[in-house]
Amino acid sequence: MYLQRRNRILRKSAAIRALVNETILTPNDFIVPLFIIEGTNQISEIASMPGYYRKSLDLTVKEVKELWSMGLKSVLLFIKCEDALKDNKGTEALNPNGLMQRSIRAIKDAVPEMVVMTDVALDPFSSYGHDGIVENGQIVNDPTVEVLAKMSVSHAEAGADFVAPSDMMDGRIGAIRAALEESNFTQTGIMSYSAKYASCFYGPFRDALDSAPGFGDKKTYQMNYGNRLEAIKETVMDVEEGADIVMVKPALSYLDIIRDIKNEVEVPVSAYNISGEYAMIKAAAEKGWIDENKAILETLTSIKRAGADLIATYFAKEAVQLIINN
Ligand code: PBG
Repeated sequence: MYLQRRNRILRKSAAIRALVNETILTPNDFIVPLFIIEGTNQISEIASMPGYYRKSLDLTVKEVKELWSMGLKSVLLFIKCEDALKDNKGTEALNPNGLMQRSIRAIKDAVPEMVVMTDVALDPFSSYGHDGIVENGQIVNDPTVEVLAKMSVSHAEAGADFVAPSDMMDGRIGAIRAALEESNFTQTGIMSYSAKYASCFYGPFRDALDSAPGFGDKKTYQMNYGNRLEAIKETVMDVEEGADIVMVKPALSYLDIIRDIKNEVEVPVSAYNISGEYAMIKAAAEKGWIDENKAILETLTSIKRAGADLIATYFAKEAVQLIINN
């Protein structure tokens, strides 16, 4: 047999494969989501996210020190709001001494160089479990955006490096940028969840924060998973309104969207390897049906190969260890 081109030559040995490898994960790629609860020395495993924990602030600070020592450079903070503090307008979200604001300060005090990103949305604070204010059974856009802008300023005041609005209300990026400018927070970034789909894979996260919607679903603000052009429209608008980093969420069922957006915009693109994606790997590995470590590396590499510059993932620590040992 005569062949002009033999592609297997570049796969002949581990060394050659390493030389021609196109996509390499590094600790700089990852954003580590953290779930923070009230109290001291409190830790509880999230039932649907085996191996992932809610931790009180003292333990979270320890964790952040460890993450930094491993080479991880950014954390994305979520807090679990006490039920008694929840209301329709997310009042607690604006409390300068709320758990989120205290957490930002404590983490920046302990590890000043760690890039602290904060979730901006009403759902953990909402008595309805929705990302916006509810009036007559509807999620109302403009009053919600006002709260999100104030919330962002409050996080910036506490020392957040980036606010990360995850709500999908219209016009919130522009409003947040304007509010930050007005308050002179000219160094605070915005990582926008710009193409966020209404997904069944958020289930475990809603268990973690007890933030499942009390009625209906999130389809009037999160996107229909059948749509592609809408993701580009949303993302381009967010960049125009002032987003520094954009995001596609979830990641795995949306690798095509990550690539389309990477080709479309000139800002860094992040992707959120979400709770349900974590749970699926954990569950299959627990049953002995897949090799967990290999699944983690293959999954994260596929997200980066699709075009993500940054990946928020619950596997960040494992991934760093795997990269080092590889
Ligand atoms: C809510 C929010 C969600 C996630 C991050 N922020 C869930 C939702 O929209 O209901 C999901 C993250 C995950 O599933 O890992 N603003």
